Amino acid sequence: LLNILGLPSKFPLTSIPAGVFRSPPSTIMASKSLFIVAIDFGTSYSGYCFSLATQTDRIQQEFWGEEHGLRSAKTPTCILFNEKHKFKEFGYDAVMKYSTLPSSEAHKWYYFQNFKMKLYNKVTNKITANMELKADNGKRFPALKVFSESLRYMKDHALNTIGEASYQTIYDTEDVTWVITVPAIWDTSARQFMRLAAKEAGLITDMFSEKLIIALEPEAASVWCKQLPRQGFVAEGGDREKFEESPGTQYVVVDCGGGTIDITVHEVQKNRSLKELHKASGGGWGGNRVDENFKEFLKEIFQGGIWEEYAKNHPTECHQMMYNFGLQKCSSRREEVYIRCYHNLTRVAERKQKDIPLLFEGVQGALWCDGTIKITYEKMTSFFAYSVKKTIGALQEILNKPEMATVKYILLVGGFASSIILRDEIYQTFSEQYHILCPRDAQVAIAKGAILFGSNPQIVASRISALTYGVEITQAFDIAVHDVQKKRVSKTDNYVYCTGLFQKLVGNGDVVEIDKVASYAFTPTEADQTNAVFCFFCTEKKDAKYVDEEGMKKLGSCTVPMPNPELGRNRQLKLDIKFGLTEFKATGTDVTSGESRVVMIDFLTV
Ligand SMILES: Nc1ncnc2c1ncn2[C@@H]1O[C@H](COP(=O)(O)OP(=O)(O)OP(=O)(O)O)[C@@H](O)[C@H]1O
Ligand SMILES: *[C@@H]1O[C@H](CO)[C@@H](O)[C@H](O)[C@H]1NC(C)=O
Ligand SMILES: *[C@@H]1O[C@H](CO)[C@@H](O)[C@H](O)[C@H]1NC(C)=O
Ligand SMILES: [Mg+2]
Repeated sequence: LLNILGLPSKFPLTSIPAGVFRSPPSTIMASKSLFIVAIDFGTSYSGYCFSLATQTDRIQQEFWGEEHGLRSAKTPTCILFNEKHKFKEFGYDAVMKYSTLPSSEAHKWYYFQNFKMKLYNKVTNKITANMELKADNGKRFPALKVFSESLRYMKDHALNTIGEASYQTIYDTEDVTWVITVPAIWDTSARQFMRLAAKEAGLITDMFSEKLIIALEPEAASVWCKQLPRQGFVAEGGDREKFEESPGTQYVVVDCGGGTIDITVHEVQKNRSLKELHKASGGGWGGNRVDENFKEFLKEIFQGGIWEEYAKNHPTECHQMMYNFGLQKCSSRREEVYIRCYHNLTRVAERKQKDIPLLFEGVQGALWCDGTIKITYEKMTSFFAYSVKKTIGALQEILNKPEMATVKYILLVGGFASSIILRDEIYQTFSEQYHILCPRDAQVAIAKGAILFGSNPQIVASRISALTYGVEITQAFDIAVHDVQKKRVSKTDNYVYCTGLFQKLVGNGDVVEIDKVASYAFTPTEADQTNAVFCFFCTEKKDAKYVDEEGMKKLGSCTVPMPNPELGRNRQLKLDIKFGLTEFKATGTDVTSGESRVVMIDFLTV
C-alpha cells in the first residue's frame, strides 16, 4: 500500500478551486444526442462538420467566405473584440473588418490570430485558467475569453446551419455531442483548457459532461483515412483495399497544420479499430513558420527600422500584405511569386531612404518590380526549409526504429500537406520505401474523422503513453534508501516517513488500453487526515524516485475526502484512473466508508 498525504487540517478545504472537486451531476448519463458536431479549431483555420448521430456516413460540411467571394472548408482563426472587450467578428469577417479599420481605431481594438499556439506548452509556459494573451495592439486580454468566444461563434454558427439543414431548431445544446480536435502533442493542461473554454462558451454545462469529446487531430485524420476507398486519395493507382479492410496494415499519419506538425503511427486491428504503435510526436513547425520566415525576410530588406515603423503605424495594411503572401505560398506552380507592396510601406521607406531599389541591392532572391516584390522560387523554398527539415527529421527518427520496419504508408493530411514544396521534399525522401498518400480533402479530413471518432471513441483501442505519469506519495522512512532531508514525523503517532516520493503509474512508451482501469490503493499518512490529496507529476524519464527531481513537472491535483478518521492510518483509499483516454478520468473511493467520487484532476491551477 502507498501512503498518501492529506491536506493538514489547518488547511481550509476552500482553498481548492470551486468546481474542481465535486460529484458529477446525475445528468451525465443524459439521453443520446441527435447530432454530432466536430469542430476543427486550428491555429490558422477553423471549421466544422456535422451529421445525425445515427448517420455518420452522411457528414455535412460548412463552407466559408462566400460573402467575400471565397468558398473554403475553413475560416481563418482570427477574432476581433472592440475596445470595450465586446466580441465583434470571427473568421474572414474579422480579417476583413480589421483590415478596413483606420489605424487610429485598430490600435484600440483587440485582434487575435495564431493564438492556439499559446497552448502548445513549452516547459516555461504554464497553462492556467486565468492566463492572458497579447492582442495585436500589444494589450493584454484574458485567454479564456479569446478561446471561448471563438468556440461560441462556431457553436452558434453550427446550430444555425443544422437548424436550416434539418428544419429543426435545436433549443438545447444537450441534443448535440460536440467533438473538439486538439493536437496529439498537447499536454493535459491544454486539453483541459479547451474543455473549460467549451464550458464557458456554452457547449456543455458541466466540466464533467460527456457531451464533449476531445479528439486528437492526427487520430481523427487516421480514422477518416482508414475507411476511405482508393478514389478518396489524390492520384493513387492500383487496387488497394480500404485500410480498415486489411487488418495488420500499418501507417504513419502526419497532420501538417498551420501551427503544429502532429505525427502518429497506427495499425489496423481485426475488428477495424486502431492501435497506436508509436507515441504521438511532432512539434511547432507548421505552415505558419513559412509566413514568419517571410516576415523576417521583409525585415531584412526594409532594414533600418522601416519595417518596424510600418508594422506599428499601419498594422492592418501589414496584415493584408501577410494575408496576400499566405495566398501566394499556396501556389502549386514551381515558379516565382509577386507580392504587392502597399503604398504606405513605400512611403515609410522613401522617407527613411530615398531609393527603394537600393534596399534590394544586397538582397538575394528578391527583386523590386514597380511596386511589387518578386520572389524567386528558390527563395520561396527557403522559407519552407525549417518546417520541411523538421518534419522529415521527425519522420525519419520514427521510421528508422526497428519496430517500425513494417510500416508501409505515409498519409499526409492538414492544409499544409497541400504544399507542393513540402510534398516534393517528402516524396524525394520517402517514396522509394513508402507509399505516400494524401486524401482529396486533406484539410477537412480532421473534422470528418472527428465525427466518426465522436460517434465511437473506442475506435482507437490503445495508445502509447508519451510520458511517465505518477503521484506523490510517502513511505515509512528507511535510512538506507531515503534522503534524510525528506524525513518527516507524523503529529499524532510519531510515524516516521519519507515525503515527496514519486510513484509511477504509467511509463513513457507503455501501451495503455482505452477501457483499461488502473487501480491503486493508498493509506493515509496522518492518522487524523480527513482528505487525501493526489498530486500528479510527469517526466520524460522512464521512472524517478522523488517528485522534485530534474525534468519532473507538476501536472495538477485532486482531493478525495476520507471523512471518518476512526481507523487512523489503517484506512484504505482506492484511486482508479483511465489513462488511455484523450483526457485522464479518475475515481476516488474511500474504501472504509465505501464512498466513491468521480474526481476531476485540476491541471489548470498549479
Ligand atoms: N497549398 C498550400 N501550400 C502551402 N501551404 C498551405 C497550402 N494550403 C494550406 N497551407 C497552409 O497550411 C496551414 C493551414 O493548414 P490547416 O488548416 O490544416 O492548419 P490548422 O488546422 O489551422 O493548424 P493546426 O492544426 O496546427 O492547429 C496554413 O499555414 C496555410 O498557409
Ligand atoms: C496609408 O495608411 C493610412 C493609415 O493607415 C490609410 O488611411 C491610407 O489609406 C493608406 N494609404 C494608402 C495609399 O494605402
Ligand atoms: C478490437 O480489438 C482490440 C485488440 O485487437 C481490442 O483491444 C479492442 O477492445 C477491440 N475493440 C472492440 C470495440 O471490440
Ligand atoms: Mg489542424
